[in-house]
Amino acid sequence: MNMIPTNEIDLVKASSSKINDVDFNNLQFGRIFTDHMLVCNYKDGKWQKPQIMPYQPMTLEPSARVLHYGQAIFEGMKAYKDDDGKIFMFRPDQNFARLNKSATRLAMPEFPKNYFINGLETLITLENEWIKPGKGNSLYLRPFIVATEPAIAASPAEEYSFMIICSPAKAYYTDPVRVLFAEKYSRSADGGVGYAKAAGNYAAQFYPTRLAQEKGFQQIIWTDASSHDYLEEAGTMNIFFRIGNKLITAPNNDRILDGVTRKSIIQIAEDLGIDCEVRRVSVSEIKAAAKDGSLKEVFGAGTAAVVSPISAFSHAEEVFEISGSEDSYASIFKDHLLNIQHNISEDKHGWRHKV
Ligand code: COI
Repeated sequence: MNMIPTNEIDLVKASSSKINDVDFNNLQFGRIFTDHMLVCNYKDGKWQKPQIMPYQPMTLEPSARVLHYGQAIFEGMKAYKDDDGKIFMFRPDQNFARLNKSATRLAMPEFPKNYFINGLETLITLENEWIKPGKGNSLYLRPFIVATEPAIAASPAEEYSFMIICSPAKAYYTDPVRVLFAEKYSRSADGGVGYAKAAGNYAAQFYPTRLAQEKGFQQIIWTDASSHDYLEEAGTMNIFFRIGNKLITAPNNDRILDGVTRKSIIQIAEDLGIDCEVRRVSVSEIKAAAKDGSLKEVFGAGTAAVVSPISAFSHAEEVFEISGSEDSYASIFKDHLLNIQHNISEDKHGWRHKV
């Protein structure tokens, strides 16, 4: 890894703040950005000194490789504030590891850990006022890397920008989600980039998702690309099924994003003595469970989505309503996660990262 032994970050502060113009009670996900951003450029074979500066447009030549070949990756993280005003991130080491896994797959240089963690901490501290206490409030952090080199040969760039922008956030989905099980389109395939947080994975979902929306479903649950028989993930979140009292989620593979919320839920289930099977889960198993009444819950899990209940699914023109359960696992896991993230409960696995 290309470690640079310095903690220094250049800082240019915004001359005024936009915060008083923001209605924190009516936030749409990812529309409002804080006063500052972090930029760290890669050139001449190394990452340069990071800079924090006022949030502003970036300049790119039309020939920047990212615009032609989609060499772009990102992460999704959040900062939380407790009632005493202390700020925390949640498992940032996991996002760091995944960022570099994505970077390797997209033929990008790895980003140094000290720049990642110090950059986040410095930026979050500067944007302290933008983080509101209370469960459900957070500052969404979007680190990303794009290929900026002005060159259109179809090969990896030699210049990149790593940036972090921040956006005050509440839950991504406000209501339970209705989903369609994918029968034709795929999010990714074996040997592809599904496990990476590559920008193109998301663009490729937009068209099939729009078709699903036209039928009244907000999201697609992606199935394996070869048979479409196995349920994998939702694109904006990983997916869990509860049959009886058992939880089931698909194993990680080439096609599935290794979600931080997903792996935390698997651990919390173990801590709570909830049986959680990480195994392939077929469309026919879920349809059969919905028909015989043993399918109690389906929910998605992700940084932006937190834990989002799914109220209905459709496959092969059949629609199944999921009535939900009184002892809802989705609310148990959501509560557990938020309590850890907001410094309300014990953090037995050391997931909180104090800023
Ligand atoms: C996240 O949960 O942070 C994600 O990356 C999902 C995003 C596409 C909204």
